[in-house]
Amino acid sequence: MYAATLALVLVCWTATTLADHHHHPCHSPNMTGHMSVVNSKGEVKGVGSFTFDTTARRLRFKTNDSISVNTTHSLDLLMLFDEGIFYEIDSKNQSCEKKSLHTTVHPLDIPDDATFITTMNIGSAVIEGEGLKINIWTGLLPDSKVAYTKSVTMGCLPLSSLYYYESGALTFTFMNIEMEIKDPEQLAVPSCCQAAALEDTPEGTVHSFMNEFI
Ligand SMILES: *[C@@H]1O[C@H](CO)[C@@H](O)[C@H](O)[C@H]1NC(C)=O
Ligand SMILES: *[C@@H]1O[C@H](CO)[C@@H](O)[C@H](O)[C@H]1NC(C)=O
Ligand SMILES: *[C@@H]1O[C@H](CO)[C@@H](O)[C@H](O)[C@H]1NC(C)=O
Ligand SMILES: *[C@@H]1O[C@H](CO)[C@@H](O)[C@H](O)[C@H]1NC(C)=O
Repeated sequence: MYAATLALVLVCWTATTLADHHHHPCHSPNMTGHMSVVNSKGEVKGVGSFTFDTTARRLRFKTNDSISVNTTHSLDLLMLFDEGIFYEIDSKNQSCEKKSLHTTVHPLDIPDDATFITTMNIGSAVIEGEGLKINIWTGLLPDSKVAYTKSVTMGCLPLSSLYYYESGALTFTFMNIEMEIKDPEQLAVPSCCQAAALEDTPEGTVHSFMNEFI
């Protein structure tokens, strides 16, 4: 909640903060880590592990069913941003759905047209090991009324991404990040997906990584 309040305050700040031309949106490195997704009702929409290839622009996210959270449903997604498709995998019954992806926007990246807000320290700025210096960015998603606020470390590791929809908000939080792809298999198309045919997108549906949690 504190993070959400902080972010809202910061979004309001943007109106009065001049754009800082010395900052350019950074791109996250290859990573493995944990991610949680919570909506504005406080419902946990997913907790699990992710693998991200920043060069091939592929993202895998799998919920961890042993971290039992009441509102979490099992989800296993493989996003192929460059190819414009994604797979919803059900490893239990070896089934797979292949769908069109309508945006390459995702919570681990900062869009190139994002606006820099500020640099600040979480925790202490002066006590060794007790603080974290972060950059905060904000912006609007293209063709939509969705506003976002993102915070990243100085090395561009994501901390959190908040998306504000008309109907509510989604907060993605990243933890335990390692700057490597620990298991490249996670980013390969599973055998049960190889033969999957591209499904039709229902009228009015926009597929994005974020929309999988709404
Ligand atoms: C990310 O990992 C992929 C696959 O191992 C590799 O090809 C690519 O060069 C890496 N990118 C960076 C920026 O290290
Ligand atoms: C799921 O979470 C449990 C408990 O934290 C952990 O021991 C296990 O390694 C996790 N599994 C995966 C696949 O991340
Ligand atoms: C899970 O949520 C449902 C509905 O919100 C509730 O009825 C149930 O008691 C909850 N279960 C646990 C274990 O919290
Ligand atoms: C696999 O399981 C999911 C959910 O349990 C179900 O929706 C789906 O229809 C199943 N697919 C097949 C091919 O059995």
